[in-house]
Amino acid sequence: MSTEAVANGRPRPTIRPWALITGASAGLGAEFATQYAARGFNLVLVARRRERLEALAQALNHYGVAVLVQPADLADSATPDRLHAAMKAQGIEIDTLVNNAGYGVPGSFMSQVWRTHVDFQQVMVNSVIALCFRFIPEMQQRAQGTIINVASLAGLMPASAGHTLYAPSKAWMIKFSECLGHELKPRGIRVLALCPGFTYTEFHDQNGMRALVSRLPGWLWMTAPEVVTAGLAALDHGAMVCVPGLLNRLLAVVVRVIPARLAHALSARRASDIRRTD
Ligand SMILES: NC(=O)c1ccc[n+]([C@@H]2O[C@H](COP(=O)([O-])OP(=O)(O)OC[C@H]3O[C@@H](n4cnc5c(N)ncnc54)[C@H](OP(=O)(O)O)[C@@H]3O)[C@@H](O)[C@H]2O)c1
Repeated sequence: MSTEAVANGRPRPTIRPWALITGASAGLGAEFATQYAARGFNLVLVARRRERLEALAQALNHYGVAVLVQPADLADSATPDRLHAAMKAQGIEIDTLVNNAGYGVPGSFMSQVWRTHVDFQQVMVNSVIALCFRFIPEMQQRAQGTIINVASLAGLMPASAGHTLYAPSKAWMIKFSECLGHELKPRGIRVLALCPGFTYTEFHDQNGMRALVSRLPGWLWMTAPEVVTAGLAALDHGAMVCVPGLLNRLLAVVVRVIPARLAHALSARRASDIRRTD
């Protein structure tokens, strides 16, 4: 409980809302944590690397918000229920859920072992559904809440070979967010699909694509603070889908308005600049 809000000249007790952010140990997730802390939210930070989450919690100390570190692997199908139970046990109601954790698997579909695909599906799709399913009821009860699903511009682009499950998982995420957004808007809950293009984070180091994508021109890239700031502004304006950056928005529009065959041909021609197809 804090007492910063002032009503009629007297301090009024306020309860800080809680934001639960997955993939908070790096990149966009760490930036979401920073910007939500700056907005006065208490935080639940989720990712596998405990030491990274603890370092971030320490770095956010000066905002004076509570930060709870919850190391967890979202490839484990039990994680969403465990997280929800842990929140319930501590009397924490989540106001804002940021489904941000994610990664890419390079190469072709058949170059990977089955386990890789199962884990990917669990992190990128199933855990998102499960976390929404668990945390929406309490948002509905309060007639207030926010869900941000971090998708990708890749989910709006024509399909091409390589990294085969990534773009479909993000296309799914965008459509899921829109359906959920329409359902939940009358109940006071906002849902946003955030669709970044190339962003400077650890994403391309984790999937081994840094050398290839660093040949792309700098004007194609955005920083994590730029992406998150655009996402939160879009949410404040009631958007359900946000493509941050003028160039990315232009790309998303162009592939919709040009003939599909041309869009696919262009996409196929550029695919080897950004993907491995072996
Ligand atoms: N960077 C880009 O160019 C770009 C573009 C479009 C969309 N995106 C999307 O943005 C989101 C954030 O990625 P980023 O760019 O910030 O990449 P990042 O810097 O590599 O961060 C990814 C985060 O996801 C977490 N994560 C990965 N696997 C996990 C698992 N099994 N369980 C729990 N947490 C897991 C990582 O934490 P641990 O390793 O500690 O678990 C890390 O905190 C992703 O959904 C990504 O698809 C990124």
